[in-house]
Amino acid sequence: MIEGRIIRISGPIIRAAGLGAAGLFDVVAVGEKQLTGEIVRLEGNEAVIQVYEDETGLRIGDAAVSTGRPFSVLLGPGLMGTIYDGIQRPLETLFSQNGPFMAAGGRGEPLEADKRWPFVPDPQVSASLAAGETVEARPALLLGTVKETESIICKIMVPPNTRGGRITELLPPGDYRPDTVVARTDRGEEIPLAQWWPARIPRPNGGRLAPDEPLITGQRVLDVFFPLTKGGTAVIPGGFGTGKTMTQHAIAKWCDADVIIYIGCGERGNEMTDVLSEFPHLVDPRTGRSLMERTILIANTSNMPVAAREVSIYTGLTLGEFYRDMGYHVAIMADSTSRWAEALRELSGRMEEMPAEEGFPAYLPTRLAEFYERAGRVRTLGGEEGSVSIIGAVSPPGGDFSEPVTQHTKRFIRCFWALDRDLANARHYPAVGWIDSYSEYAAEVEPWWEKASGQWAQLRREAMDLLNREQRLAEIVRLVGPDALPDDQRLILLAAEILKAGFLQQNSFDEADMYCPPVKQVRILEFIMEFYQKARICIRLGAPLFKVSSLPVRERLSRIKNEVKNDDPEGLLDFEQEMRKSLDELERSYRNREVL
Ligand SMILES: Nc1ncnc2c1ncn2[C@@H]1O[C@H](COP(=O)(O)OP(=O)(O)O)[C@@H](O)[C@H]1O
Ligand SMILES: [Mg+2]
Repeated sequence: MIEGRIIRISGPIIRAAGLGAAGLFDVVAVGEKQLTGEIVRLEGNEAVIQVYEDETGLRIGDAAVSTGRPFSVLLGPGLMGTIYDGIQRPLETLFSQNGPFMAAGGRGEPLEADKRWPFVPDPQVSASLAAGETVEARPALLLGTVKETESIICKIMVPPNTRGGRITELLPPGDYRPDTVVARTDRGEEIPLAQWWPARIPRPNGGRLAPDEPLITGQRVLDVFFPLTKGGTAVIPGGFGTGKTMTQHAIAKWCDADVIIYIGCGERGNEMTDVLSEFPHLVDPRTGRSLMERTILIANTSNMPVAAREVSIYTGLTLGEFYRDMGYHVAIMADSTSRWAEALRELSGRMEEMPAEEGFPAYLPTRLAEFYERAGRVRTLGGEEGSVSIIGAVSPPGGDFSEPVTQHTKRFIRCFWALDRDLANARHYPAVGWIDSYSEYAAEVEPWWEKASGQWAQLRREAMDLLNREQRLAEIVRLVGPDALPDDQRLILLAAEILKAGFLQQNSFDEADMYCPPVKQVRILEFIMEFYQKARICIRLGAPLFKVSSLPVRERLSRIKNEVKNDDPEGLLDFEQEMRKSLDELERSYRNREVL
């Protein structure tokens, strides 16, 4: 323990003398209330400390005591379903101690200290014990399991930062507290049920794997047009009210990751309230159980300390990597990384660093890169496959994508889901613009989709092509109006409208359509593209456009997404037959005319 004295206070950034022997990034207990802080810079005998709690009441001359360890996250059973603040304090405990206005210095163990968890030693450990294997020879050796929730089995493993040796002791099955030592090695290492990991350091893995499996979000525009992969990175930039939070929520609710980590980062408190009140009641479509059984929430809203917002991202990443290392697919959402970057800017300003673009520190791009680099599909040290996918929201001021956070983020992600102000104003949701958005994973996930439903790549190309044509025609229409166009071109406009209404638009409040399974996604697109192809033939045969546009199936095509429920493949089949029949009839009547 090294003790120093506060000599300067500038909001959440304080300077203390006498800490020259402490380590960079050590956690420091600051002032009478022992606020949590972290050393972010060392200059001679002085340390610059970032304080994660409300600093009101701190005084010059107060003590600042280094704990000698970096800011760490406690990893073990009991994380699932918990709502944490940015430094992993459970909000419920803080609330019961201090009421709704979180007092500084409020403590709360990350994991309930007295709770007992049923530990079951892994049957194979005894074999490796008998063989005298060292834990270095078996990285991440599985010691046993704890059923954490109905949806998640927590694996208790030898931690990656092990001192090594042979396991000399392993506890029998039983109910243990998080700090119970369940195994010991002959080098004096004690392995408790729950283990600490320094949040700013990525947890090691056994190598990266190709990201060729999609992360299914159940949102058609994303899955078909701009697919993300398990272990992939995506950003959702969009101006105020364009649907960033709604999109993040939809993905958190429906995507096929095993574990969801939702970081509410610097946004308004009421948005987090929505999550807190809604998620516990949501039913996981895969397990039929509460979504909270596989979700961890980190809440650091705009009214909470700004330094804790900076670190909340790393807390979330570390929790995610912990479950990845057990062989789970984890999806991390951060809303919004712009507020996080603003926290960096504020802290940097108070440290009197030289500002770069728009006042952001020069290391903004490095920090963004480090954040997104912690995503990936990997071989775990234990030899399994796991992944961390990251989906960050960016809220550019004024919706202007040329600002630094959007631009730098773009360099480090491979999926760009650009929210379009015009679409949002037209209440076309999700307002993902098809011209500006892109995914670099499309080729990688193609084999997966082709296996799931043969036509994905081709339909996707045709549909995008149709939207591009419509975009070009729209210019002409703006000048001369739609009536000046020949029928085959007006059909393009009509088909594009159907594609937008019947496929791209997806209302998150609509029970039947808030989630769309992959096979149904492709089926609907198939119908729309087939309608377009068949209608083209009719027009070529001389049918006027109104004959096509007045067909009852045309209207139904826009509604089929919610008319036919997700568990009703027969319903889709019926519609397909009806659609073919009515188009074939139209075609036949004009072919007959041709003959006459
Ligand atoms: N997929 C969607 N389905 C239905 N409504 C949506 C959808 N996306 C956005 N909205 C509407 O837009 C509003 C603003 O969305 P929100 O996600 O809060 O915006 P942002 O986070 O970008 O400020 C929502 O309250 C909702 O009415
Ligand atoms: Mg929002």
